[in-house]
Amino acid sequence: MAALLEVEDLKKHFPVNQGVLLSRLGKTVKAVDGVTFSVDEGETLGLVGESGCGKSTTGRCINRLLEATEGKVHFEGQDVRKLHRKELKAYRRDVQFIFQDPYASLNPRMTFGEIMSEPLVIHGVGTRRERQDRCKEMLEIVGLNPEHINRYPHEFSGGQRQRVGIARAIMLRPKMIICDEPVSALDVSIQAQIINLLEELQEEFGLTYLFIAHDLAVIRHICDRVAVMYLGKIVELGGWKEVYNSPSHPYTQSLLSAVPVPDPEKQRRRARIILKGDVPNPVDPPTGCRFHTRCPIAQFPLCAEEEPPLREMAIGHQAACHFAKPFPIPESKMGGEVPFDSQPG
Ligand SMILES: Nc1ncnc2c1ncn2[C@@H]1O[C@H](COP(=O)(O)OP(=O)(O)O)[C@@H](O)[C@H]1O
Ligand SMILES: [Mg+2]
Repeated sequence: MAALLEVEDLKKHFPVNQGVLLSRLGKTVKAVDGVTFSVDEGETLGLVGESGCGKSTTGRCINRLLEATEGKVHFEGQDVRKLHRKELKAYRRDVQFIFQDPYASLNPRMTFGEIMSEPLVIHGVGTRRERQDRCKEMLEIVGLNPEHINRYPHEFSGGQRQRVGIARAIMLRPKMIICDEPVSALDVSIQAQIINLLEELQEEFGLTYLFIAHDLAVIRHICDRVAVMYLGKIVELGGWKEVYNSPSHPYTQSLLSAVPVPDPEKQRRRARIILKGDVPNPVDPPTGCRFHTRCPIAQFPLCAEEEPPLREMAIGHQAACHFAKPFPIPESKMGGEVPFDSQPG
């Protein structure tokens, strides 16, 4: 079966507009620097990494909210980067976006009804009456009172506003939704409710998700596969169980060490890996392996000189580290019990 979405060697380099000297030198921010992955129909792929690693830029290039610098984006076999007007409009109908901050992404002067029916108006779907009925039905589907159709975003909580953002995204029955940290701005207690809603909608409407998060804990329950990003590149990619239980890349291991384990005994035995330093500047990413400046197992000069390609660790599980070993993995060099058992579902 062909993948619904295929992304190959995607790059987005922004011109540097801060500092005359840097821009004169033709320096660019390498926000996304050669990213390859695919998403199958009905699947949820998690895209995870620290803030600034290029997740949103990747999502925006896929949806053509940004134009990529280089690379391939194919959706249902068609070349997304070549789409014009009419085809682009149809594509955007199929591939919707949910933003992190529902307050910033919803127009505060529009009622919920107006916000939700906007995509229908843009695409010329239905009469005024039909659109209103559809909005009410959708409010109910996302767990809100249909009577709220004439209310404004400020009258509601963050979770309720995100429900409207989600309703808006599914109004046109898309095939795929790019969810860009849809729960990061919400209280922890609300996060699970929104994730559950997204899962229910996926089942109901056969949706495919690209689910962006900076935290592995958040996406644990919703993802089929996970791609871990560091400074514009994917460093590990695999089925969520494999990645969570046997992370191969030291960066993934450090991210996972921050995820709490339900079992307090295991939690106590697990070593928290705290990375040294900050994420380097994407204008001048480190040579060789981009992670070498913070890596607890880096060896020199190899890691500073040679960029490790993504290598197969097991079927469908890849990692980009000179020292990642194909399965079965010997005991981690990093000490502590990093891999842990996570309960599915
Ligand atoms: N319009 C832009 N112009 C210049 N740099 C940008 C722009 N948008 C994002 N960046 C930079 O690109 C990098 C990746 O950003 P982003 O994709 O938003 O990361 P993430 O979503 O993972 O937090 C960051 O260093 C950010 O500062
Ligand atoms: Mg982002």
